[in-house]
Amino acid sequence: MDKLKAIQPIKKGLSGEILIPGDKSVSHRSVMFSGLCDREVKITNFLHAADCMSTVNCMRALGVSVKELDENTLIVKGNGLDGLKEPAGIIDAGNSGTTLRLMMGILSGQKFLTTFTGDASLSRRPMGRVINPLSQMGANIVGRQNNKYLPITVIPTKENLHGISYKMPMASAQVKSAILLAGMNADDETTVTEPYTSRDHTERMLTGFGVKLKKSGTSITISRVNKMTPPAEIHVPGDISSAAFWLVAASIIEGSDVILKDVGINETRTGIIDVLKDMGADIQLLNVRDEVEPLADIRVRYAKLHGTTFGADIMPRLIDEIPIIAVAAMFAEGTTKITGAGELRVKETDRLQVITDEFNKVCPCIEGLEDGMVITGGQKDNLKFARCNSHDDHRIAMALAILGAAGVGVEIENSECVNISYPTFYEILTHFE
Ligand code: S3P
Repeated sequence: MDKLKAIQPIKKGLSGEILIPGDKSVSHRSVMFSGLCDREVKITNFLHAADCMSTVNCMRALGVSVKELDENTLIVKGNGLDGLKEPAGIIDAGNSGTTLRLMMGILSGQKFLTTFTGDASLSRRPMGRVINPLSQMGANIVGRQNNKYLPITVIPTKENLHGISYKMPMASAQVKSAILLAGMNADDETTVTEPYTSRDHTERMLTGFGVKLKKSGTSITISRVNKMTPPAEIHVPGDISSAAFWLVAASIIEGSDVILKDVGINETRTGIIDVLKDMGADIQLLNVRDEVEPLADIRVRYAKLHGTTFGADIMPRLIDEIPIIAVAAMFAEGTTKITGAGELRVKETDRLQVITDEFNKVCPCIEGLEDGMVITGGQKDNLKFARCNSHDDHRIAMALAILGAAGVGVEIENSECVNISYPTFYEILTHFE
């Protein structure tokens, strides 16, 4: 078992400024897409965390040069669109679903063989959702248990990939991106349609690399790409999924007034702001800037929250924030009902199950539903000190830490998994008294 972390209550609230580390989704894509070009690309504010390093290691294994000028600044230089090389060994995607799923899309049309492994969590996550559509495009991908799970091998095909029109059964940026990236190598047009629009970082960044995409409703169409023209520099915005922990902490800990600096506010990601505002949170966007990805500083002050109800339509815009929204709901007056969240069962853990099991140790107020949960709020004075387990899920560990900090403290088993997306999280948290 890795380190047990003890979290103390924060008495005086959060204050000052918190610089939010780079966005995980954008960091992955910046290295992947730059690695498909033959010009140097400088990436600033890159998220130096375990998941994104899985992508860096993967691209290096495929012959791309990735120099680290410092922890958060990379220089990536590939060998052009056809320039990836056969890796010498098996590639370990670690805990990173984004690395594995997007790379399957990129590698589907390549003329060499690649095998992936990953950690225990990634080995349990469903990969058929990507392998099936890519196979329909002519890719040859095999995996354990009838092509559903890691280890996975992408085998070169004799024929080129062909375009498909694919209706996705779920909203998922990873699935959408894998299909679009394979579509770059297909002979004819590829269209992918989602039930609801998921995060659009792939579409935005590819457009910034000169790739033409057509968007219509929740459908995106891509054609064969012969050339990518990268920008000289990509600045990664702060990750709203990391900022989310402070948005909630400041909203529920009395006396808080804090500014979160340089946060990405892409509207496919800002569902948490909408839900918290709907619960009565005091959140203001300052200094809004529109770059490839829009950015803002976010001021958040303590407020009295009340319960809310939300479901499938907003889910893709806050999919990673359910654990921390559940914490906000425990402090809000009244009941919060979350539905349409079945995708949480196939994240780094079964998050619906883990939230119910672990948060209820602090206060038994969450009733699990098949696709969500009902949280009876107003629990501030009913919380008790407990030892909880993150189940090695970074977002569960951080949500538990905020639950303890806003309540009477908590101990977290398997606490070090925060390194997956936010290595400095505990350091920042313990800075507040
Ligand atoms: C991500 C997409 C989401 C999200 C994950 C990152 C991405 O997953 O949960 O943390 O970078 O595309 P799904 O596409 O599986 O919903």
